[in-house]
Amino acid sequence: MKKKIFNFKNKKNKSKILSLTAYSKNIAKILDKYMDIVLVGDSMANVLYGHENTHKIKLENIIQHTISVKMGIKKSLLVVDMPKGTYDNLKSAEKNVKLVIKKTRCDAVKIESNKKNYKIIEKLTKKKIAVMGHIEVTRKFKRKLKVEAKTKLEASKLLKEAKLIQKAGAFSIVMECLSPESAKLITKKLDIPTIGIGSSKYCDGQILVTDDMLGTSGFYPKFVKKYVNLNRVIEKAVKEYSRDVKLSKFPSTKNFLNGN
Ligand code: KIV
Repeated sequence: MKKKIFNFKNKKNKSKILSLTAYSKNIAKILDKYMDIVLVGDSMANVLYGHENTHKIKLENIIQHTISVKMGIKKSLLVVDMPKGTYDNLKSAEKNVKLVIKKTRCDAVKIESNKKNYKIIEKLTKKKIAVMGHIEVTRKFKRKLKVEAKTKLEASKLLKEAKLIQKAGAFSIVMECLSPESAKLITKKLDIPTIGIGSSKYCDGQILVTDDMLGTSGFYPKFVKKYVNLNRVIEKAVKEYSRDVKLSKFPSTKNFLNGN
């Protein structure tokens, strides 16, 4: 059964929210079996397109990949990252978000906080558009990371920001690279679920960039657990294929369409 936004609010303090990113149908199909949320992240700028920062990704790229991901999704909530520059003011935010929803039939959009755009989130949520918030300072440039909110003052500033995002109507909030203390504080104080990346276990759920945990992105900060080194697996297969072709071992009669 398709997950509903309502279910996520109810998950707070009950069971962990599971989330990973996808940029294409085949990966989405696998994730859909296990994840509550599949995010089409602007991390595709670094991971797929080789850009130095996520700001370079265009709305049409995000839309195109989401159309592909949507084909693999039956039950998870499909969330789309709105690229930077597409929600700078109320008018463009509404126009671009509506375009994304129309073209992709996604369930929600993710809007990164710049500590000023709460009114934009509010306007969208008032129009019954589901919005996931995001507080962070990372992945902007060369995906360099630093832990945020180490001091009490910084933590309380982030808590204020998170509360304003909640007040604006967001149904959940991604927290990227926050210290364990601030992640714990914000998770405790908010009514909506928090989803952490590099922000310790003290969050209501977790998200990772799938390519990072599969070992294909080449980006492995400490907070990423590499569950498999797919680059190594792929290289082994490519090496075997080259050897087989050179030695005329491939294609064999088994690989002809009319072979046996
Ligand atoms: O773009 C992305 O993949 C993200 C995750 C890091 C949460 O925003």
